[in-house]
Amino acid sequence: MITNLHQLYLYQIEDLYSAETQIINVFPRMIELAGCENLKSALTTHLDETRAQLGRVNEIMDTHGGTSRKQTCRAVKGIVEEGEILMENMAGNAVDAGLIVAAQLLKHYEIAAYGTARAFAEELGYDRDFYLLDETLEEESAANETLTTIATGGLFTEGVNEMAK
Ligand SMILES: [Fe+2]
Repeated sequence: MITNLHQLYLYQIEDLYSAETQIINVFPRMIELAGCENLKSALTTHLDETRAQLGRVNEIMDTHGGTSRKQTCRAVKGIVEEGEILMENMAGNAVDAGLIVAAQLLKHYEIAAYGTARAFAEELGYDRDFYLLDETLEEESAANETLTTIATGGLFTEGVNEMAK
């Protein structure tokens, strides 16, 4: 039973541990499928960042005696499952756009979850945690912006033009 803010915070940290782990597992396949070099390199960079993010979450979990085996982040599991269905059913010019959809859904979930966790860390006076969560939140926002730039930088237009040929 969760009865105070600290417990809710730890629940969320354990959830994020599961989220990052699932993302680390699915990203290599997304990188493999990406056609556009910009997208491939953005996803590769973000996979490296994600490994560091998992390390930060792990540090926070250790600090508070959390455990990585407690729960699966079902929200990320659902987004990953939908992404997998997309990946199996996409071809040609739709692939990169579909990968961006899946990646941005993940980033948005993480931005929301990390934003809340960071606010809780501040409220609870966990300074080191706040610093670590803030670093991750910055990376997630930057990754999301990079994906938007790639998506709006002609990727869709080129795809549509190709399909019209
Ligand atoms: Fe992440």
